[in-house]
Amino acid sequence: MKKLIVLLVAMSLPMMVQASSGHNEYLVDAPINLDDKASLQKGAQIFVNNCLGCHSAKYMRYERVSDDLEIPADIMMENLMFTTNKIGDVMNTAMPVDLAKKWFGTAPPDLTLEARARGSDWLYSYLISFYADESRPFGVNNHIFKDVGMPHVLQTMQESMGEDEFKTNMADLTNYMVYTAEPIRAERERLGYYVIGFLFILLIPVYFLNKEFWKDID
Ligand code: HEC
Repeated sequence: MKKLIVLLVAMSLPMMVQASSGHNEYLVDAPINLDDKASLQKGAQIFVNNCLGCHSAKYMRYERVSDDLEIPADIMMENLMFTTNKIGDVMNTAMPVDLAKKWFGTAPPDLTLEARARGSDWLYSYLISFYADESRPFGVNNHIFKDVGMPHVLQTMQESMGEDEFKTNMADLTNYMVYTAEPIRAERERLGYYVIGFLFILLIPVYFLNKEFWKDID
């Protein structure tokens, strides 16, 4: 009996943890579409302009982004590469880690896999959830990441654009980060359709073969 109770409690623990972490009203769905090249390109542009200054994305190469997102190499090199002039390089940040630690108290983490580590909804919600809070060192806080050490680097962008356009831009940025976290995903999904299609077609000869095999037996 005791064992049973322990087991039941253990099984309900994950549920209780989820319930106690509470529902965050600021956590919203991210509108992700990996087939939308224009959105991915826009996201890449926002990323290199606003994020690479502090964060690296060192498991990604500029060349791969340029190939996958169909950004011509010369445009990539001229407009989207600020930390190197070699297109084969990984996307490093220019900021030295020790300085970053000194300035922000914590080093900005690498963002290549961030969308997979946190989930795209979390990431999108985080990007649109900064708010003014004078008690914080940078005068901002975040509804999704309480007491975050990152300044609201996109504040000017948000204020000059208005909410709707800003959200569209953050969706593009999230879309791009979902892509870098798993560059093969769009291809994998496409491949999935081929595989299912192949299995369906295979079903036809298999069906007749099966009939042929059994026809003399019944
Ligand atoms: C001025 C430097 C700076 C810039 C620019 C910057 N960040 Fe940050 N970011 C930080 C720091 C510092 C942290 C760590 C905050 C903490 O742990 O409290 C952080 C944390 C984050 C996190 C949370 C990481 C985690 O899972 O713990 C995300 C996501 C993030 N940044 C995304 C971005 C994106 C996207 C951009 C570009 C729009 C960007 N950051 C630009 C400094 C920066």
